[in-house]
Amino acid sequence: MKKKIIAANFKMNKTDEEIRKYFAVFLDNINGLKNRSSFQNLDAELIFAPTFTALCAAYKIILPYFDFIKLSSQNIYYEKSGAYTGEISIDMIKNCGCSYAIIGHSERRNIFGESDELIGRKIEAVYGECGLTPILCVGENLEIRNKNGQEKFVENQLNIGLNSIKGRKISSLIIAYEPVWAIGTGMPIKADDGEKIHGFIRGYVDANFSVEGLRVIYGGSVTESNIKELMAKPHIDGVLVGGASLDPKIFCNIFKLAAGLYGGADMLTANK
Ligand code: PGA
Repeated sequence: MKKKIIAANFKMNKTDEEIRKYFAVFLDNINGLKNRSSFQNLDAELIFAPTFTALCAAYKIILPYFDFIKLSSQNIYYEKSGAYTGEISIDMIKNCGCSYAIIGHSERRNIFGESDELIGRKIEAVYGECGLTPILCVGENLEIRNKNGQEKFVENQLNIGLNSIKGRKISSLIIAYEPVWAIGTGMPIKADDGEKIHGFIRGYVDANFSVEGLRVIYGGSVTESNIKELMAKPHIDGVLVGGASLDPKIFCNIFKLAAGLYGGADMLTANK
């Protein structure tokens, strides 16, 4: 079963101490889900991407829930070790319990100048290791969207970003479609437009690469009020949530709405 993804990107927020407090509230809120068989029946997977310094603290907390809560880093560098001041290796984040790595987030591209080629090398490095799945972020800015150039733009990002896996069989990949104009702006994509570009991305990857477990998720101003409409679209396999994930109660609600668990914290207990 291809599980839906509900992912939280904390960006540069929360110390390890704040992460502990966050999870105390978050886990309390999903108390009704604590039943293990309920977890296994859940058609959804939660992913948290805290800062590097909070990864190990987060790992210790989520370990008992590891069958449905996973960790991601917000970035990696492609070299294994060496003189790369300020960077972090794949081994280092795996050692802190990460199953995923966000690669090519638009903030990395636009603020830190990461090129498609650099992102492609990072994807190549992730697939050179075992046990880690990349969350490759793609998405156009407003100028390109206004000219209706989003498909061509994203196609180019996919082509360069995934160049190293051409002709290879890949078992797991998440692509996060995150239009720059929707990130942190309170202007999410319309669900129908989201469905269209997600369908395009899936079609493009299916036609040009060999990925078995592809999931295409949406990011950009996801909230409690738009999550259900987005998740109802067949090509939207999940969401990557920034600002609205920082409050544990709000993110818990987003998770419940996304996973189709309505009716408060005890909804799964009611199904027992
Ligand atoms: P946002 O961020 O939900 O605050 O728009 C999403 C992201 O950057 O991943």
